[in-house]
Amino acid sequence: MAEEPDFDVEELKAVKKSMLRWAWNLNKSEAKYLIIGVISASIEGLVWPTYSILLADILGVLLNPNHTTQQIAVWCYGFLGLAALVFLVTLLKLTFITRASEELTYKLRKMAYGVILHQEAAWYDLPEHSKGVLTTRLAEDANSVRGILGDRFGIVCTSTATIIGGLGVAFYFCWSVALVVLACFPIVAIGGAAQFKMVTGFASDKHFESSGKFAGDVVENVQTVASLGRLRSFVTEYTNMLIIPSKKMEKTAHVQGVAFAFTEFAMLGIWALAFWFGGQQVANNNCGFQEMFKSIMSIVFMAMIVGQMQALAPDAAKASKGAKRLYLLLENHKKKLAEEAAAPPKAEPPIRGLIEFKDVTFTYPSRPDAPVLKGLSLTIQPGKTVALVGKSGCGKSTAVALIEQLYQPTGGVISIDGVPLGDLSVHHVRKHIAYVTQQVRH
Ligand SMILES: Nc1ncnc2c1ncn2[C@@H]1O[C@H](COP(=O)(O)OP(=O)(O)OP(=O)(O)O)[C@@H](O)[C@H]1O
Ligand SMILES: [Mg+2]
Repeated sequence: MAEEPDFDVEELKAVKKSMLRWAWNLNKSEAKYLIIGVISASIEGLVWPTYSILLADILGVLLNPNHTTQQIAVWCYGFLGLAALVFLVTLLKLTFITRASEELTYKLRKMAYGVILHQEAAWYDLPEHSKGVLTTRLAEDANSVRGILGDRFGIVCTSTATIIGGLGVAFYFCWSVALVVLACFPIVAIGGAAQFKMVTGFASDKHFESSGKFAGDVVENVQTVASLGRLRSFVTEYTNMLIIPSKKMEKTAHVQGVAFAFTEFAMLGIWALAFWFGGQQVANNNCGFQEMFKSIMSIVFMAMIVGQMQALAPDAAKASKGAKRLYLLLENHKKKLAEEAAAPPKAEPPIRGLIEFKDVTFTYPSRPDAPVLKGLSLTIQPGKTVALVGKSGCGKSTAVALIEQLYQPTGGVISIDGVPLGDLSVHHVRKHIAYVTQQVRH
């Protein structure tokens, strides 16, 4: 499949920066909901560090042989309060962030659909703008932006708060244990990074896009396909198109499996090291049992959340690709509209109907190696009926499409009443054309 011309790597790099601002501007009307969501998500992130403090404290009380039921009750109320807080902030986070995300998705779909319908005819001829691809994009890419500034944004806020809170608690209560456990983190990070690399490296939506387009085209023309007795061969071709992406996905699965397994192993291994080292610190009176426990627990909970973030990585990689695609589609269109608005208005003279083709050459942009018109010269007088006759595929419909300005000639001039088409307003010219198409669609 051809590389998308509106989606090259350099452009993507430039786009990355402005994209968040763009999505934020789009979602500005929902800002108050997003802010409530973000605050709730951040408070939710502080619940785990608080939990590790409560856990260590109640263990301390229980380990004291002289503890009273009142003492236990105090900590139980603490847990109950934490539970109520989690209930409240999770509810607020999900309700408000989902609401804001849904609104953004709705707006993006509406805008993208409008832009897709307003392209030049040549745009739809490109394989990456075929019907199947565009509908998939409409469905998925809007969701991708939601992925960045929506649901997952909440998870990022929660995780960040957990990391800050977790590290704060760990270093406050027993810095030596915190430092040792933290030193092991690169090992976990390597596992996570490997997962991320694999996922982005093998993301093969494109391969599935082309098989999706193929399947869509065949279904659309299934009557022709069936009447030619080609059903079986198309099924075989479709199945063959699935082989390469499926193989790639399988490869991803193996590597991902190893990376995940390693990360899990590293996590549990760190527990072993943490308690061994923590035990020594307690034995040497460098910190108390409860402090050591708080420090380890808060870092372990923090690691769990970081793990969650890594688990989101595949989606995030895919989402940012889809979001960039949508961003470029909408922004390029906006630029084009601005250019059109800045250009001086085109002439709208009364039209008599003298149509002239002078040495017109034309090649469809999607098929550059197959020239269709090779120097067509033709004069059609106003009020005359003219029939273009020629064998199928010689360019009759193409000539009409050029008058309609669905495409621009590659050479020569087409004029109406002596004025080149390029100097006339497209809408004005089209208002004077009545056209019954060759392929009637129902
Ligand atoms: N959108 C397109 N993209 C690429 N090639 C095209 C496109 N439309 C037509 N062509 C090709 O351009 C050539 C001229 O097509 P055109 O439809 O103008 O022929 P025609 O003279 O109208 O034929 P017919 O008598 O069958 O209607 C053909 O080879 C056709 O395959
Ligand atoms: Mg035709």
